[in-house]
Amino acid sequence: MTFLEKIRCLLTFGQGVALPLPEISDNQDPIELFKLWFDDAQKSGILLPEAMSVSTCGADGQPSSRMVLLKEYDQQGFVFYTNYESRKSQQLTDNNKVALLFHWNVLQRQVRIEGVVEKVSKEQSARYFHSRDRGSQIGAWASKQSHKLPTENQLKERVAYYEKKYAGKQVPHPDFWGGWRVRPHYIEFWQGRASRLHDRICFEQHNNHWQQFKLNP
Ligand SMILES: Cc1cc2nc3c(=O)[nH]c(=O)nc-3n(C[C@H](O)[C@H](O)[C@H](O)COP(=O)(O)O)c2cc1C
Repeated sequence: MTFLEKIRCLLTFGQGVALPLPEISDNQDPIELFKLWFDDAQKSGILLPEAMSVSTCGADGQPSSRMVLLKEYDQQGFVFYTNYESRKSQQLTDNNKVALLFHWNVLQRQVRIEGVVEKVSKEQSARYFHSRDRGSQIGAWASKQSHKLPTENQLKERVAYYEKKYAGKQVPHPDFWGGWRVRPHYIEFWQGRASRLHDRICFEQHNNHWQQFKLNP
């Protein structure tokens, strides 16, 4: 048994953490269920439980994934912040279909979300931008996210430029930086179980109503 396999066994007793699913009624609201699971993940001590993968697919049909941080969620959707001129934003502009993925390993849980994106309001983006530390605000101006970095020094020079430019002033919120809200139409909760007989509880939205069903593992 490899070291990693031993750790996994230790964490899961070789069987998957047998956390029970909460009581799920026929008209369970998936966002409420997400809240229960997200709260569990936050309490579990997992580093960055809000880290999620975002998968996008631009006009050329090539899927692309990367991690981002979930900053807000409610009945309207799931919000993350980024550079609107980045590769992901370019792809989301070409094709608003998106998939999110959370994996909380010690809980043996995964949540899959599929939906479409929209930009959050400028006011909301500015509010969040100004809640960040100053270094991250300068970093947002300095980094031409996803664009080629021609020299090692360019990023440092741009940081120094914006530090000087905004010295002693509030760093303004750049127009090219803000939030994307993922409006979900499919949410799947996966709970690891013994003998790979995992639970998969799915919610699909039809005419503003969530339909619920289970899938084979
Ligand atoms: C744990 C983690 C969290 C991250 N959070 C963000 C984020 O919230 N926003 C962001 O733009 N990039 C974030 N990144 C960096 C992205 O993964 C990615 O490198 C960057 O957004 C550029 O992606 P793109 O070129 O596909 O647009 C994070 C990376 C990691 C590993």
